Amino acid sequence: MCGIVAYIGPKDATPFLLEGLARLEYRGYDSAGVAVTGRSGGIKLRKVKGRVADLAAAVPARFKGTTGIGHTRWATHGVPSDANAHPHLDNAERIAVVHNGIIENADELRAKLTADGAVFRSETDTEVLAHLIAAHVAEGVELEDAVRAALGRVVGTYGIAVLDAEQPDRIVVARNGSPIVLGIGEKEMFAASDVSALVRYTRQVVHLEDGELATVRADGFRTFTEDARTTHRQPSTVDWEVDSYDTGGYEHFLLKEIHEQPGSVERTLSGRLDERFATAHLGGLNLDARELREIRRVKILGCGSAYYAGEMGAQLIEELARIPAHSEPASEFRYRNPVIEADTLYVAVSQSGETYDTLAAVQEIKRKGGRVLGVVNTVGSAIARECDGGIYLHAGPEVSVASTKAFTSTVVAFALLALHFGRIHDLSPADGRRIVSALQALPDQIREVLEQSESIAELAAEYAESAGMMFIGRVRGFPVAREGAQKLKEISYVHAEAYPASELKHGPLALISPELPTLALVPDDELLDKNLTTLGEIKARSGRVIAVGHRRPEEKLADHFILVPKSEPELDPLLLNIPLQLLAYHAAVALGRDVDKPRNLAKSVTVE
Ligand code: AGP
Repeated sequence: MCGIVAYIGPKDATPFLLEGLARLEYRGYDSAGVAVTGRSGGIKLRKVKGRVADLAAAVPARFKGTTGIGHTRWATHGVPSDANAHPHLDNAERIAVVHNGIIENADELRAKLTADGAVFRSETDTEVLAHLIAAHVAEGVELEDAVRAALGRVVGTYGIAVLDAEQPDRIVVARNGSPIVLGIGEKEMFAASDVSALVRYTRQVVHLEDGELATVRADGFRTFTEDARTTHRQPSTVDWEVDSYDTGGYEHFLLKEIHEQPGSVERTLSGRLDERFATAHLGGLNLDARELREIRRVKILGCGSAYYAGEMGAQLIEELARIPAHSEPASEFRYRNPVIEADTLYVAVSQSGETYDTLAAVQEIKRKGGRVLGVVNTVGSAIARECDGGIYLHAGPEVSVASTKAFTSTVVAFALLALHFGRIHDLSPADGRRIVSALQALPDQIREVLEQSESIAELAAEYAESAGMMFIGRVRGFPVAREGAQKLKEISYVHAEAYPASELKHGPLALISPELPTLALVPDDELLDKNLTTLGEIKARSGRVIAVGHRRPEEKLADHFILVPKSEPELDPLLLNIPLQLLAYHAAVALGRDVDKPRNLAKSVTVE
């Protein structure tokens, strides 16, 4: 997904812009560009199709300026090319614009601007902004007023940064549906679409709200609304470590993040378990016990892996609190005119906190008077701010496109919510203690699974060339199967299908053959016998089976077995998922894939 960086201060902007863009690479992109200006006037521009390293190689030594903007582009309007890469300039080459998001009325604006004499040099929707803003500044309008006027004519979503060669003492940024965060330095200021680009330089940040703009100067900033009313924003401190954005000796961010899970789970649990009352404390819910007792249903919303984590969450809430709970893709929910019930608790799940579909679902619920909690990793993100309360994951920044540690921490957060809910309802103190102890044991149990990385790598190498893989699980195991299949297809591009094990005989059994291996989740719970019967059905069709569970099945039922430490049945899915992450990772490596930046995907999908 596109990324924005901006700098204004006494130093040369280019090194920060290039470094910041490199920090945003993980979001996925196909081209990159920078533009700088300074007291000497004029705009210097470089943009290339390809990587940030290609851009850095194309930037000459004399490319200097104290005010600059940069961008990584993920093509929406027009193919990836040098011309379509941002920044975009007006014809007088006075204004430069970088933009994340989509301008829906770009064709109409382009036609009008062309009729007025503008000559377009790209196929992008963004270029209309450069021409619109330029038309206003040419009439002597201040840059911030010109940007406001231009945005007033635009329909769509945007995060933008704008440079004016004739007003090099400022950059104007604006947000509407696509994040912009300001970074406050010592006599210098930064802006970016993601704090990861800023943390090396400052921890003091200000997140813009939708509909808000800012004029950023070297010595400070002023925020205001689209109708020019000044707003007052207090900076917050980012507590993520700079080294979270380095691979720290691991070959890939993904492997590092898989191995960080014992620590990230500890942080999700930290200070939230109450052994005395065998419950969980969740200070951010903003709902007291009486209000929670009035809730009759829980509806969980998220996209992709966040949705699957929500499925595990729904299972936990139903089991521990005996409240009907259901997870649905936010991307579907928002388009189906959902019925919003007063006694339903809505929970939005998002690692980034910026996924547009999930944000739109939250806004729809709130517009209809519903109550929404967020289970979010990124503090201060749009979804976190939009929700009425929630649980922060504290998993730390997740850089690799495929979600692993945030997924696990989301399920842990749901276990805490389910425990809290359960103990308000009928979960006994003994059962509460059982869950508290099991949660405390998770970090060490995850470490045990991670120790098997090498043997899982051998298995992955053996199966990586398969045409596809079937993932099956029953009840608690089914969301694990779905997430396992998602991870494999996402990073290795091997086709993977997830089915409830119980459904196999109703259709997909026809697919089983020696060419289609099955990964089967076979926890040692009340459904073990049923699962073993399913393995027998697969083996009878000469299917190969990798079983993941707590007890090795008979040799005739499984070709391979991955042992996972036993937790309480409700929490077993969390641990069963960890070897599936390793399997997907090692399969992707065996196939030589771009593990951290899989093709066609972006880390956070901030467009519709
Ligand atoms: C996970 O591996 C995927 N990259 C993707 O499905 C992701 O979970 C989804 O896009 C939601 O992202 P979010 O958690 O940042 O909202």
